[in-house]
Amino acid sequence: MALKSFSFLLILLTLHSFSITSSNSKAIVTSLPGYPGPLPFKLETGYVGIGEKEEAQFFYYFVESERNPDEDPLIFYLTGGPGCSAVITFFYQIGPLSFNFETAPENITLTLNPNSWTKMANVIYVDMPAGAGFSYATTQEAWISSDSIVAKQANDFLRKFLIDHPKFLKNPLYISGISYMGIVTPIVTLEVYNANERGDQPALNIQGYILCSPLTDKFMDFNSRVEYAHRMALISDDIYKSAVENCRGNYVNIDETTNSICADSLERYNECISDINMEDILEPLCNKSDLKPYCREYYYDFAADWANDEAVQQALNIRQGTIGTWEFFNTTMHYTEGKNDTFCYSYDIASSFSYHKKLVSKNCRALIFSGDHDMTFPYVGIEQWIVALGLPVDSSWEPFYVSGQVGGYKTTYAKKDFSLTFATVKGAGHSVAQYKPKEAMVLTERWLDSKTYLSVM
Ligand SMILES: *[C@@H]1O[C@H](CO)[C@@H](O)[C@H](O)[C@H]1NC(C)=O
Ligand SMILES: *[C@@H]1O[C@H](CO)[C@@H](O)[C@H](O)[C@H]1NC(C)=O
Ligand SMILES: *[C@@H]1O[C@H](CO)[C@@H](O)[C@H](O)[C@H]1NC(C)=O
Ligand SMILES: *[C@@H]1O[C@H](CO)[C@@H](O)[C@H](O)[C@H]1NC(C)=O
Repeated sequence: MALKSFSFLLILLTLHSFSITSSNSKAIVTSLPGYPGPLPFKLETGYVGIGEKEEAQFFYYFVESERNPDEDPLIFYLTGGPGCSAVITFFYQIGPLSFNFETAPENITLTLNPNSWTKMANVIYVDMPAGAGFSYATTQEAWISSDSIVAKQANDFLRKFLIDHPKFLKNPLYISGISYMGIVTPIVTLEVYNANERGDQPALNIQGYILCSPLTDKFMDFNSRVEYAHRMALISDDIYKSAVENCRGNYVNIDETTNSICADSLERYNECISDINMEDILEPLCNKSDLKPYCREYYYDFAADWANDEAVQQALNIRQGTIGTWEFFNTTMHYTEGKNDTFCYSYDIASSFSYHKKLVSKNCRALIFSGDHDMTFPYVGIEQWIVALGLPVDSSWEPFYVSGQVGGYKTTYAKKDFSLTFATVKGAGHSVAQYKPKEAMVLTERWLDSKTYLSVM
């Protein structure tokens, strides 16, 4: 009897470990269509299954540091949207490869990105939530997501990934996100700290978080556009003054019937900015259904052609038939100002400010940077919530230099074991590394390397 239940337990254990390893498929990719010869860096792709029955399957690209993978930081990078594919960050921003835009989209070649973050860190790029990139779900319910579901799934993903890659448990860990993932990244980071404090195993070597052009507050960030437009000379002093006076600081969700003078001021503002490209106020505003080669979006077709190619999917070890057409980003999920929930995504967290506030009491470092020509989530609003954290200034606004030129400006705040560096990158638009790749890389590299943050408080 005792023996019987013992062998039953053994079977259970075997089944259990089998179900974990079977769904965490991973493979080393040594070559990719479009790149001549073997890849000069270590790329692994795979899926991590999350949920009781692993019904959500998240696809990832993992690149080991090209410098010193044993000691360099591990960056877990969440792409925005929500619903943008990790291909955007991998091939257009901080990954080791770029598309060669000189070639025709139907004959794509890949080149090395000299400013890849994999030159200083191990980086995990993940397609998250399900419905983004190559990630998918096996049940109806698991296709449905929300800010809080993504935060939970990202934590589960990271933990499972590290259990499966124990060699990286000792590397300094940074949670990172761009754009919309500014809502989710601080939540994931805080949960890692809390799990360590609870004694959850394995303990993760969390050091802090990195945010690029984050959305933090669904009111504040959009509201700051009016002040930004004034600073950047897109609206006159007069228009700004009338908006300030008539709207009393609230330029979002105004009731036009009860506050018609504010509505009038905002109409003048809208007239001035409606044909401005929010992602970079200096770049042309393009017609999405008639893209020209001078439009940045024109080059996004390279990704779609490449990722939908059968040979590419085979090389990446994509599970056939799990998604339909691969999309650059999932338009149903993608958030725009004031958007209501959709059938597949609920925007259930209005602000991540309170999570930043809680992180201030941890032994934690934060790097937050933004392009000064980005009007999506202007640096003005980012600076406002950072100031609202009420931290003492450790080193005040000063230029930082890249190749002997001013790359932008930075300010560092510090209190006890917490430090936060806020930087603006001069001349950059929304996805900073796409506009100013070298500045983004140098800024991040220096910050990662400078572990000597003094705090006097
Ligand atoms: C595709 O690119 C390769 C490498 O540059 C070149 O040899 C080949 O002729 C091109 N094919 C077409 C159809 O343009
Ligand atoms: C977008 O995500 C939803 C929900 O996950 C999914 O049903 C839909 O197929 C996705 N759309 C695209 C174009 O991938
Ligand atoms: C955008 O391009 C489409 C297709 O060429 C055209 O029908 C439409 O009028 C254009 N829209 C604007 C605002 O120019
Ligand atoms: C969101 O839903 C509300 C209530 O149904 C509606 O009044 C509003 O127009 C919707 N907003 C958008 C941006 O669709």
